[in-house]
Amino acid sequence: MPVSIKSSREIDAMREAGRLLEIVHEELAAMVKPGVTTWEIDQKGEEVIRSFGCIPSFLNYNGYPASICVSVNEEVVHGIPSRKRVLKAGDIVSLDAGLIWEGYHADAARTHAVGEISPELQKMIDVTRESFFYAIRFAKAGNHLNDISSAVEEFVEPYGYGVVRELCGHGIGTHLHEAPEIPNYRQKSKGVLLRPGMTLAIEPMITAGSRSVRWLSDKWTVVTLDHSPAAHYENTILITEGEPEIFTCKIRQDSENGRR
Ligand code: MF3
Ligand code: CO
Repeated sequence: MPVSIKSSREIDAMREAGRLLEIVHEELAAMVKPGVTTWEIDQKGEEVIRSFGCIPSFLNYNGYPASICVSVNEEVVHGIPSRKRVLKAGDIVSLDAGLIWEGYHADAARTHAVGEISPELQKMIDVTRESFFYAIRFAKAGNHLNDISSAVEEFVEPYGYGVVRELCGHGIGTHLHEAPEIPNYRQKSKGVLLRPGMTLAIEPMITAGSRSVRWLSDKWTVVTLDHSPAAHYENTILITEGEPEIFTCKIRQDSENGRR
């Protein structure tokens, strides 16, 4: 599949989708506290998404049963919210959310600390976020996809963390998952030429131990094989001639950029 180039009308819709999704994430971040269930986070997420007149894109996607993916500790991604799963101090929780605004998707993920966490865990969360901001320095017209993929791996490697290989970022637009697939590690080929108007969801998934993962019997939840904790950070971005525009991270863009 060729990689679609969005028109300025489409870009406007995706910018708005991204703006709304960032607000969803702000609301959810404020709820992350010891004692809250992962189900409550999903309920709130769906409620906020629908309050904007948007559709939660994950709900029923390939049968996924919720609006938000809530992944705790050794769960890397696609954790299914549950009334029985209560967050406790010292946990880390990854929230992945997606919505559709006027037919256009936005997709973003954040990992949060629950109460006080160890400095080691906070470091992994920080490095995961920083790997995104490092990688998107290479996300500009004239570069190739592998410049982004390689950058994530290069950034993370010195810390000794694992870079998950079974899951990738992706193009995004009228569909949640469009071409191209965006691995978070170096590829043998340079990949597609990046052009202005491409919209991409870049999402490093990083583990504190081995990079190996497996799927739980629920067919969704991806966990680390060695039970080491994992972090996830994702934004939907636009390729331009210069710096990429980050649709799902404007409220915090300056401070996040300052930290890279
Ligand atoms: N951000 C994830 C992705 O790009 C979440 C979607 S999976 C879903 O794959 F099934 F839960 F929707
Ligand atoms: Co995604």
